[in-house]
Amino acid sequence: MLDLTQAGPVSCAHDSLRPARPAVLTHLLGKLMAAGYRLARKDRYDDFRLEWVHDSPFIVIPSVFNPKVPRTGEFLAAQIDSRLVSADAEVLDMGTGSGVCAVICARHARRVVAVDINMAAVRCAGINAVLNQLEHKIELRHGDLFAPVPEERFDLVLFNPPFLLGPPRDDRDRAWRSNDVAERFAAGLGAHLKPGASALVLLSSFGNAQLFLEGFSRHGFSIAVWAERRFVNEKLAVFRLTLPRPRHTT
Ligand SMILES: C[S@@+](CC[C@H](N)C(=O)[O-])C[C@H]1O[C@@H](n2cnc3c(N)ncnc32)[C@H](O)[C@@H]1O
Repeated sequence: MLDLTQAGPVSCAHDSLRPARPAVLTHLLGKLMAAGYRLARKDRYDDFRLEWVHDSPFIVIPSVFNPKVPRTGEFLAAQIDSRLVSADAEVLDMGTGSGVCAVICARHARRVVAVDINMAAVRCAGINAVLNQLEHKIELRHGDLFAPVPEERFDLVLFNPPFLLGPPRDDRDRAWRSNDVAERFAAGLGAHLKPGASALVLLSSFGNAQLFLEGFSRHGFSIAVWAERRFVNEKLAVFRLTLPRPRHTT
């Protein structure tokens, strides 16, 4: 984990996802890896799967984002520990998918609210809450971004968003693509954070990270790199967003 005191403003945060090699090479590597996954029958999509993430079992059902392949869900979940999530914390897992982050968070937190626009994901997260015996701590909500939590504020918000720009073709594609989630999430987030709270958002060198980072910056968030990791064809970074505390005048 990075020292947050070393983290810089948006330009530095954006630099964190600057590709290390030419785009064509990255694209070819991506294609090769996808072909390899298909050959090895590890392309894990639209199928029933049992995955293990940080020693917890997860059933993934058709149309729901797999937390292991690609590795973004597992990487975001790896950031969750008792230093980040206190025993009395209330956490919002936005776009919960299989519920991977909700379940790992619920090991530490008092209460986790898990939201997804894909009803299959809400059901899947519910199955995994039960499978991990954490259903008493996880509340499931179906809907668009903050609509299912209109008046609620949280100590921590987690989001592994659809980071490609464009209209989603179906529910499965909503995990990848959106026209406006970056802007609407940035606009709504502040009203759902308790004073001093923060959000962790995962972005990839594959996606339009700049769009998200500019949105956060425009809505007054300080942005710091919380964790980052380079893979053969992709770099992932988790950003921590905070709002300045309001100044009290006497
Ligand atoms: C990249 S997946 C992440 C899933 C899971 N959190 C993980 O890390 O494995 C993004 C998730 O966000 C959900 N999503 C997309 N747009 C949404 C919206 N407007 N409101 C709520 N959830 C949304 C998708 O259905 C999908 O489950």
